[in-house]
Parts: sequence; C-alpha cells; structure tokens
Amino acid sequence: MSILSVVLYPDDPLTKTAEPVTEFGADLEKLALDMFETMYAYDGVGLAAPQVGISKRLVVMHEPDGEPVCLVNPEILESEGSEEGDEGCLSLPELFANVPRSTWIRVRAQDLRGKDLEFEACDFFARVIQHETDHLNGIAFPNRLDILTQQSKLHEWEELRHRTAPASETV
Ligand code: NI
Repeated sequence: MSILSVVLYPDDPLTKTAEPVTEFGADLEKLALDMFETMYAYDGVGLAAPQVGISKRLVVMHEPDGEPVCLVNPEILESEGSEEGDEGCLSLPELFANVPRSTWIRVRAQDLRGKDLEFEACDFFARVIQHETDHLNGIAFPNRLDILTQQSKLHEWEELRHRTAPASETV
C-alpha cells in the first residue's frame, strides 16, 4: 500500500463530476487500499477518489468505532431531516464550518467486487456519506454553505492554502 498525495481545493479534478466505475478487480482494490492508507495517514474519516487525483466514483470511510467502508458508484436515493454539524476536509486542511446535512439517507452503491448494496444511514455516518458523495459531483463542503458564509470561508481557505501549500504538497 502507499500513501497518495491529496489534491487541494479547487485543483483538478475536485470540481469535476467523476466517472462511474465500470471495471472491478485488482486495480480498483489497490486504489481503495491506498485510499484507506492515505485517509488514516491524514487522520481523516473519509476520502473520495477525486481527492487523490482520480476522477472515479469511489469513496472510502471509517466511522469512529465502526468498520472501514468502501462504496463504489454511491447514490443517495432518499433523504430526510436536516442538521448542522462541524465538517472539515482533507482537501481544505484546517478549514472548518457548520454544514447542514440530511440526518437520514438511503444509499445505493456497489462494493469493490461490483455487488449491489442498499442501506440506510443516519447522523454522523450519513453526514460522511453525503460529504464524500458530494466530492464525486465536484462539490466541496463550502459549496453547501449560504453564499455569505461560503465567501468568507473560501477567503479564509485562500489564506490558509498560501500558508499550508508548501508543506502539504511535499508529502
Ligand atoms: Ni472532503
């Protein structure tokens, strides 16, 4: 396994719609393992393939006290409720904001072998799935904020990025 470098917002391909995964096999498994290793190395709870420069619909997550989860081609079929909660992102390190998310979702996805999955998630895990699925649609968490908060957070990010870019781009 290897630690991949994380793409910083808004660099390519973070603002693009990622391509569906159509080939299942050793290459996809290797990518998922490398993404898990990268996520753990940076202390994240989720990571989407576009964050490591690969515009494919694949995400990995690790719920605190839960199991590692990998979703291929995830789709949110239904959602209910809304709650604000603190979020950060490995592509915008050190930036945090209160982001509104649905509290309950129904998800359809595939596993690494292409088997269909359908399940429900709530609260924190639902939040992580929504955050990671957004990455596959070119959306980062500041895009989920009201326009004024978004502008101030993106301004804060520009300043943070100037300070953090040299260090994070060498890893
Ligand atoms: Ni993120």
